[in-house]
Parts: sequence; C-alpha cells; structure tokens
Amino acid sequence: MVAFSLNGRNVELKVDPATPLLWVLRDHLGLTGTRFGCGMGLCGACTVHLDGAAIRSCSTPVSQAAGRSVTTIEGLGGDHPLQRAWVEHNVPQCGYCQSGQIMSAAALLASNPQPDEENIRQAMSGNLCRCGTYHKVQRAILSVAAVEHWQPAAEDAS
Ligand code: FES
Ligand code: FES
Repeated sequence: MVAFSLNGRNVELKVDPATPLLWVLRDHLGLTGTRFGCGMGLCGACTVHLDGAAIRSCSTPVSQAAGRSVTTIEGLGGDHPLQRAWVEHNVPQCGYCQSGQIMSAAALLASNPQPDEENIRQAMSGNLCRCGTYHKVQRAILSVAAVEHWQPAAEDAS
C-alpha cells in the first residue's frame, strides 16, 4: 500500500512500490496529462512536482512519493498564470511535451519568481521539445515573471 497527497487529495493504492510514479498516475489514477516520452529520465515529458520540486515521474518509483505531496498538470487547475501565458504566447505546437514544460516552469517560478533568461534556460534544459518551442516557452515564462505582484500557487510553493 502506498499513500500520498495528489493535487491536494489523499490517495492510497495497492501497487508494487517499485512501479514508476508515471504509470501510477496514468494507469491507476487516470491522470493522463503527464506524458511518457523516453522512460529514462532524459526528455522531461513526464515532469511532475514532488513536494514542490520538479521530478521525472518515469524514473521515480511510487514508493518515493509515500507520505509526500505530488502535483501534476491537472493540479494547476487550468488557470495558473503559466497556463494563461502559454495560451497568450501560443506556445504549444503538437503539445506532447507541454505539460512537462509547464510543470518545470512552475517549479522554477515557485523557487525563483523573477528568473532571468539564463535561469530559465538552465531550469528548462531537461525538457526537450521536438517542435522547437523553446523561444516561446522562454517568452511565456518571462511574461509571468514580469508581473509585479505574481505569487506562486500554494501547491507550487510547498
Ligand atoms: S518520459 Fe520521463 S524523462 Fe522522458
Ligand atoms: S510542442 Fe511538440 S514536442 Fe514540444
């Protein structure tokens, strides 16, 4: 049995503790916004937050989430400042990598609300995009960071 907080709600599952968190989220809990890309911790498509930090859920056994707080793209609620900025800047192309991109960006802004371009480049360097949306991703993050009184959501600050 593994129990953890998921997007603010407690969940408890009978699952092999070695199961990757990604498959627990997608197959056991039906949260398919988190994507499978490489399965080896190399592409960032599967990025979620564990206690507010961006992690690769494909290479994180669910046992590591026990007693902790997991946030997925669904947990941002659809009206997160980054999600609005993604729409305003028309960031996605095929969209496949984008939930991971947003989760990495949300973790960055929660720890550093005013990142510069280099901070963003470093924080986002593990999120690959075959469609080459990198410049739009950076512009969208900078636009959120430029909002004077922006505060991270409580979940992101945990
Ligand atoms: S699917 Fe997890 S890093 Fe690529
Ligand atoms: S938008 Fe297509 S892979 Fe990033």
